[in-house]
Amino acid sequence: MNLQPDIDRAATQLRGKTPQEVLTWALGNYEKISLASSFGAEDVTLIDMIAKIKPDAHVFTLDTGRLNAETYDVIAKVQQKYPQLNLRIMFPQAEAVEPMVSAKGINLFYDSVENRKQCCYIRKVEPLGRATKGLDAWITGLRRDQTANRSTMEAVELDSDRNIAKINPLIDWTNEDVWQYIHQNEVPYNALHDQNFPSIGCAPCTRAVEAGEDLRAGRWWWEMSNQECGLHVSSDGTLVRAKG
Ligand code: ADX
Ligand code: SF4
Repeated sequence: MNLQPDIDRAATQLRGKTPQEVLTWALGNYEKISLASSFGAEDVTLIDMIAKIKPDAHVFTLDTGRLNAETYDVIAKVQQKYPQLNLRIMFPQAEAVEPMVSAKGINLFYDSVENRKQCCYIRKVEPLGRATKGLDAWITGLRRDQTANRSTMEAVELDSDRNIAKINPLIDWTNEDVWQYIHQNEVPYNALHDQNFPSIGCAPCTRAVEAGEDLRAGRWWWEMSNQECGLHVSSDGTLVRAKG
């Protein structure tokens, strides 16, 4: 089924709306819909907003097995604060991880871009495929000013790889907007954010940033081009979206 016309209409309709308006529309419009949460600042913001609209909404997280202890702490805090939330924790397949780390070493990602992509594929992208299987739509915390790739995204898009909708309620928000919301609403957040980690992924692939550095400079910092891990990039290397 060609979802593009409906999605284009919705994107036009929702342009300039608040994240809560976009979420209310998406949660009402799609039966099988889930938030993808890494428990970074954007995603805890969305969890708080969603819990106020639909307390038993579905959320999934991709536990790569290489997350920081602080990330598990914030997951536990969120589970306590929003007990009705349906949180699904996805793990990579042991049959894929075991041969990879046996053959290439536990920290294979530092040795080559190919190894890094293989690790991201096995620990994140394949589990994302299982998490989104059967969904009509998934919600992300993407913001337009995070990367060049993301600068042309809309609040509602077609995820052309999966042929489902992708909802990005915070697409127009800045980092400052996100933090204002977190403080005003006393949302639990990852303690690493207070230690100069503006963007948090896996522990070995994320470092703190220096004053003045780009907010994503600490992600895969040893690579020359280190902006995306594959979650939001299509199998052919382009962005997972229909237009652009
Ligand atoms: S990444 O592609 O560079 O890793 P980023 O950390 O910017 O992504 O997060 C962008 C969005 O991708 C998040 O707001 C969230 O919706 C989704 N996401 C990223 N990492 C995860 C994860 N581990 N589990 C679930 N969703 C994730
Ligand atoms: Fe592996 Fe690093 Fe990718 Fe995490 S971010 S899946 S540890 S390469």
